[in-house]
Amino acid sequence: MSKDKPWGGRFTQPTDKFVEEFTASIRFDKRLYHQDIRGSIAHARMLGKQGIIPQSDAETIVHGLQDILNQIETGKFDFSVSLEDIHMNIEARLSAKIGEAGKRLHTGRSRNDQVALDIRLYLRDELVEISAYLDLLIDSLLYQAEKNLGVIMPGYTHLQTAQPILFSHHMLAYVEMFKRDKGRMEDCLKRVNVLPLGAGALAGTTFPIDREYVAELLDFPEVTRNSLDSVSDRDFALEFLAAASILMVHLSRFSEELILWSTSEFKFIELSDAFCTGSSIMPQKKNPDVPELVRGKSGRVFGNLMALLTVMKSLPLAYNKDMQEDKEPLFDTIDTIKGSLKIFADMVREMRVNAENMRTAAAKGFSTATDVADYLVRKGMPFRDAHEVVGKAVRYCIEKDKDLPELTIAEWKGFSERIEEDIFAAITLDASVNARRATGGTALERVKEEIERDKAGK
Ligand code: ARG
Repeated sequence: MSKDKPWGGRFTQPTDKFVEEFTASIRFDKRLYHQDIRGSIAHARMLGKQGIIPQSDAETIVHGLQDILNQIETGKFDFSVSLEDIHMNIEARLSAKIGEAGKRLHTGRSRNDQVALDIRLYLRDELVEISAYLDLLIDSLLYQAEKNLGVIMPGYTHLQTAQPILFSHHMLAYVEMFKRDKGRMEDCLKRVNVLPLGAGALAGTTFPIDREYVAELLDFPEVTRNSLDSVSDRDFALEFLAAASILMVHLSRFSEELILWSTSEFKFIELSDAFCTGSSIMPQKKNPDVPELVRGKSGRVFGNLMALLTVMKSLPLAYNKDMQEDKEPLFDTIDTIKGSLKIFADMVREMRVNAENMRTAAAKGFSTATDVADYLVRKGMPFRDAHEVVGKAVRYCIEKDKDLPELTIAEWKGFSERIEEDIFAAITLDASVNARRATGGTALERVKEEIERDKAGK
């Protein structure tokens, strides 16, 4: 019967069994139990302090809730679908345990502001953890950058050989991306970290509550300023899902490169056996499953953002049941990015770099052609003319099956009288890399500086 529901008063018929199951969120929102209890304890303390309920009731409630927390954590709590969600499961159990006092807990509160509080508390803790995971990955990248300092690889545009770069410079490119991801998480935290409790169902409450006191108890630097907005806003969750999606774009690009670099065609890196699997039919195979799976998981994270954007779009103020659909995408994204970051941090730390193969590849594809052009510019030729001259030299090399460093001084002179003996030293791989000395360039001294800056956390 609906009589056993906390809201059963105005109902005469029991809820249809399937409706009960269909509308319940307990299956997934039970993960908010800790936040729900923490929020209720703060609310009860405030009600007691304000004299809205007797102090003694407030104390009984707090103890009762602490017992329930203990029961849940030791697996002794039976979650009930007929009690719909985590909020009613806990409240009903509290009343069953302590009677009258338990029934006073919901004074001046609604599940609408309660659920908004729970999600904010939950996401707040997760954001701190996600930032820590990002730090682990950044540390692994810095470890590889430092360990392989001086290793030269081909840099690509259009996946065609472009210019030689330091492998460390490539790792530091990802450090920059993950630092920005961290910044986005920290920025999101500012808007998550606002107390919505006290908005009631939508319009506020008739009781003399002290929201600032609750904020203090729950460590919120601010309280929300509009009750309708407090219960209907999920943009903080959307913001997180968007930041998580951008993070997954970065992880998927990195995945793609690791997969490519592990092929027998590239052989730039080798992933540790611990992060790969074999094939049941082809005995020679070692498959880069981890980066492949992370690349694939970007799909669900983007999907979760789309799902919540679509749920929220066009909803009239204030709370609507549609919004119960916020939790699964949120939880799934949190789990996915934490798992992906953790596994990447470990895998990157353990990958082996094949310096020789990278260097050999970097010397191919006329990768120092730009250096010849820059050389001619330093000898007084306008860049556009220099570009043309080097283009011809490259075509000549293709015809003669030669590389630029193999041309004789006589051959060089045939392209431009300005070219002298010092051309040979100007177009080695090391010279090419180390000449790019402006801030943000791949020169060894710049890259070393950037590693130091990153290690100092700047
Ligand atoms: N389970 C609900 C949710 O997750 C809690 C809020 C329910 N409020 C309501 N008025 N039905 O959104």
